[in-house]
Amino acid sequence: MFKSFQRQIALWFLGLSSLVYLACTCVGALFIFASQSHSMDEELRVVASQIGHAIDVSGENPTFRDWLRVVETEPARSLITMQLFDPDGKLLEHYGPVGIPKLLKDTTEFTENGQQMRIRQGPLLHKGLPVGYLQLELPTRKRTEVTTEFLITMSIMAPFVILGFAQIGKSVSTMAVKPIEQLVATLQRFVADAGHELNTPASIIQARAQSLERKLKKEGNKYEEDLQIISKSAERMGYIVKDLMLLAELDSKTQYKSESATDFKSVVESAIAEFGERFEDKDVLLQSEIIESANVGASQDTLRGIISNLLENALKYTQPNGLVTINCLHSTPTNEVRLIVKDTGIGIPADCLPYIFDRFYRVDQSRDRTSGGSGLGLAIVKALVETAAGHVLVESVPSEGTQFTVILPTAKVPVGTTNS
Ligand SMILES: Nc1ncnc2c1ncn2[C@@H]1O[C@H](COP(=O)(O)OP(=O)(O)OP(=O)(O)O)[C@@H](O)[C@H]1O
Ligand SMILES: [Mg+2]
Repeated sequence: MFKSFQRQIALWFLGLSSLVYLACTCVGALFIFASQSHSMDEELRVVASQIGHAIDVSGENPTFRDWLRVVETEPARSLITMQLFDPDGKLLEHYGPVGIPKLLKDTTEFTENGQQMRIRQGPLLHKGLPVGYLQLELPTRKRTEVTTEFLITMSIMAPFVILGFAQIGKSVSTMAVKPIEQLVATLQRFVADAGHELNTPASIIQARAQSLERKLKKEGNKYEEDLQIISKSAERMGYIVKDLMLLAELDSKTQYKSESATDFKSVVESAIAEFGERFEDKDVLLQSEIIESANVGASQDTLRGIISNLLENALKYTQPNGLVTINCLHSTPTNEVRLIVKDTGIGIPADCLPYIFDRFYRVDQSRDRTSGGSGLGLAIVKALVETAAGHVLVESVPSEGTQFTVILPTAKVPVGTTNS
């Protein structure tokens, strides 16, 4: 699929660049043609002004007085014909071939016997009165030669240029397709993982429901365990679906808008209060050290989502008698807030650290999925942090503990403002 897409992009690129090359050739040829015509006019103008002195207009008819000297000058030599006409348009004298023996008042170019000429003609005055006309004719051969030369050069270069474009097109198409390929691969992996994750609780629900049905048929009395597992699996499926929906929503938010501000301190404190009992139940000490007040450019839900996922993990992956500490520090010079959640839990091996923010990634893949998580919590944390224009760091030593640091910019709007 990608190969044909890539080929299509390369062909489009090649086609468009060839068209541009063709257009450049045409424009170039027109430009050369126009500039050559302009320099021919200039040449005719110079010659006309030089010849003016060599025409005797004092007699009955104008005549070349000193034309030999004039025609020996450089510009005049390239002329084909110089003609003198009387006021009625009758040819009086000429230098070079006769050319067209008539006055051509309303034209700049003409073709005679297959040869094209550019002409210039002007009146000859004596004491303010017209006594005749001077007509100059210049062959356009040089202009044709220069323009043809340009076109031939461009045509000779064309195959090499097209080859070059084809090569560039190939590289461009490879570069263009690469991120799409990666995106599709991520999407495919994501769908496969999501299917896998949902499949487990779904099959448990099905198996237990069937078992319950059988037991009910026998009128037995031990349904409690089945019912618990069914409801737990359904609940887990619900969580996964909810997390997936949240991630999809966060994925669709492409741009950070600093339109909300929340005091991080109050959210941290309420999260600590909320989790307190669960930490006590597991005999893990939850301690807050420095909790500074700071306005963060994110909604309350965003901040709550970040903290609760980090505390959820700290609780899950720290054994009884362990310690979890929270710090919330506000740095005024850098305009950022740091939330640090540190635990003395099982830690994460160094080779797993680069993947822990990936969707559905768990260090211990073999852990029973009913007790372990589905690997979406940290992906949600990362996505939430990014919607608030921040980033998250992790440091961990296996068997010693893990530290997550969330860095968020402070709000640019006052507290209480919410996303529109
Ligand atoms: N504080 C921690 N200590 C040790 N390992 C951790 C910690 N936090 C995360 N991990 C590891 O990173 C993995 C990914 O964490 P994440 O929160 O994304 O998933 P989860 O906790 O397994 O599931 P979920 O959060 O979706 O219920 C975890 O499975 C765990 O192996
Ligand atoms: Mg988690």
